[in-house]
Amino acid sequence: MYDKLIFERSKEGRVGITLPKTEVKDYPLPKEHLTKRDLLLPEVSEVDVIRHYTNLSLKNYGVDRGIYPLGSCTMKYNPKINEELSKNPKFNNLHPLQPDVTSQGALELEYNLEKLLNEILGLKAFSFAPCAGAHGELTGLMMIKAYHEKNKDYKRKKILIPDSAHGTNPASVAIAGFEVVNLRSTEEGTVDVEHLKEVLDDEVAGMMLTNPNTAGLYEKDICIITKLVHDAGGLMYYDGANFNALLGLAKPSAMGFDVIHLNLHKTFSTPHGGGGPGVGAVGAGEKLKTFLPNKHVRLENGLYVRRKEKDSIGNVSYFQGNYNVILKAYAYILSMGKENIRNVGEFAVLNANYVKAALEEYYEVPVKGAIMHEVVFNGLKSKKASTLDVAKRLLDYGFHPSTIYFPLLFSQSMMVEPVETESKETIDEFIDALIKIAHEAEKTPELLHDAPHTTPVRRLDEVLAARELKVKYRDLL
Ligand SMILES: Cc1ncc(COP(=O)(O)O)c(C=O)c1O
Repeated sequence: MYDKLIFERSKEGRVGITLPKTEVKDYPLPKEHLTKRDLLLPEVSEVDVIRHYTNLSLKNYGVDRGIYPLGSCTMKYNPKINEELSKNPKFNNLHPLQPDVTSQGALELEYNLEKLLNEILGLKAFSFAPCAGAHGELTGLMMIKAYHEKNKDYKRKKILIPDSAHGTNPASVAIAGFEVVNLRSTEEGTVDVEHLKEVLDDEVAGMMLTNPNTAGLYEKDICIITKLVHDAGGLMYYDGANFNALLGLAKPSAMGFDVIHLNLHKTFSTPHGGGGPGVGAVGAGEKLKTFLPNKHVRLENGLYVRRKEKDSIGNVSYFQGNYNVILKAYAYILSMGKENIRNVGEFAVLNANYVKAALEEYYEVPVKGAIMHEVVFNGLKSKKASTLDVAKRLLDYGFHPSTIYFPLLFSQSMMVEPVETESKETIDEFIDALIKIAHEAEKTPELLHDAPHTTPVRRLDEVLAARELKVKYRDLL
C-alpha cells in the first residue's frame, strides 16, 4: 500500500484537536515578533496523525520486531522493566545543580553501580561521564596522556592499534593528539606479536586493544602483549565495546589493562542505534584512577558527594552524563544477579558458535578455531553471489541482515552477532533463511542479484543516499 506523506494528507482548515473557549483575554503579540513565513505544517485530524506515526513505526525494524544480528553492535533485547525504571520521576526530576545532600539516592545508585562494575571488571574506579563508546576512548586516551605528562615523559606520542580495530579507535587517537601506529594481524586474525616487538619503543604511550577483537576472536596472547607494552613504559587501553562476550567470565585487570571503556548502551541494556543517548563508561586501574574526568561520586562520612579527582583531566561532558543509561545498567545488573550475569557471556558465545557450525558448509569461514560472540564469514563458499546480494535477499525473508564488508580483513565480510537474548528457534529460522539463500545462489543467482523483491523500495544507490541525505519533505519539493 502506498503510504501518503503526512503533508499529502493535509487539508486546509482540518484540525486534530479543538480547544475549549478560553476565559483568558487575547493578548496581541507585537507585530515584529510574528512570523511572516508559511510554517508548512500539515493540517490533519487526530486519526491521520495516529495512522501516520503507527505506519512509520511499522516501517522501522528494531530488536522489538525480530532478531537483529548486526555484528560488532550487540543488538540484544533490552528488558522493558529497565525502561520503566529509567522513567522514574524521582530521578528524572532532579536538577544536576541540586546540592549533593538533596540527591543522595541518585548519587548512591551511581556509587553502587561503580562498585558493581569494579567487581565485574576487576578495576578501581569508573566514570560515567562519556556519552558514547568513542567518547570513552577519547577520555581514556586523554587520561593516558595526562599520566605520561605528570611523569614528565613528554616524548610518548604513539598509540598502537591492531589493523582489525573499530574505526573509532584511530579517530580517537588522532583527536587526543597522538600518532597512530598500525599493528599487523596474523593469518588467524589476532595481533602479530612479532610485529608488536618491532614497533615498541620509548615513544609509545600505549596500545588500544579490543577483546574479543573485531573478528570475534579472543586475543590468545593477551598477557604477553600487555607485558611487552608495560615493559616498554606504555599503558594498555581496553576497547570494551565487545565486552558482552566476556561478561562475568573474565576480568580485564587480570589481563593487564590500565583503562577500559564499556558501552553501557550495548552491553548493559540501553537500546542503541540512531545516535543515543549512550554512556561510554571509563574504568581505571591503580595507575589511572586519579585521572578520571568530571566530578566523581564518593562516600565521605556517610554522605555521597561529587568530587574532582586530584589528577582529573577535567570535564568531558555535562554533570553526571546520561543518567537514565546509568539507571538502566544498574537495574540490568541487579535483575541478573551474580549467579546469572555470566550466562550473558556464555550464551552469547554459544549462539555465535552455533551459527558458525550450522553455516560453515555454505559460507566461507576465514578464521580457524572457536570464536567468541560473533562470527565472520567471507561470503558464500560458491561465490555465485556477493555478500551484498545475500544481505539484500535476507530482507525478502524478513530478516535484518548482518553487518557487511566489515571487518576490512576479508573482502566479502559478513559479520553475525546473534547475542544471548535470542532463542534457539529464532536463531534456527535465521540460519534456515541463509541456507535457502545459499541454495538459491546455486540455482537462481539472479534472484539474489536483483534482491530485495518485497520491500517498498528496491536496491538503492547507497553511496548517494549516504552522501546526499534527503530527509525533509521540503527538500523533496
Ligand atoms: C569495538 C567498538 N569500539 C568502539 C565503538 C564505538 O562505540 P559508539 O558507537 O558508542 O561510539 C564500537 C561501536 O559499537 C565498537 O564496536
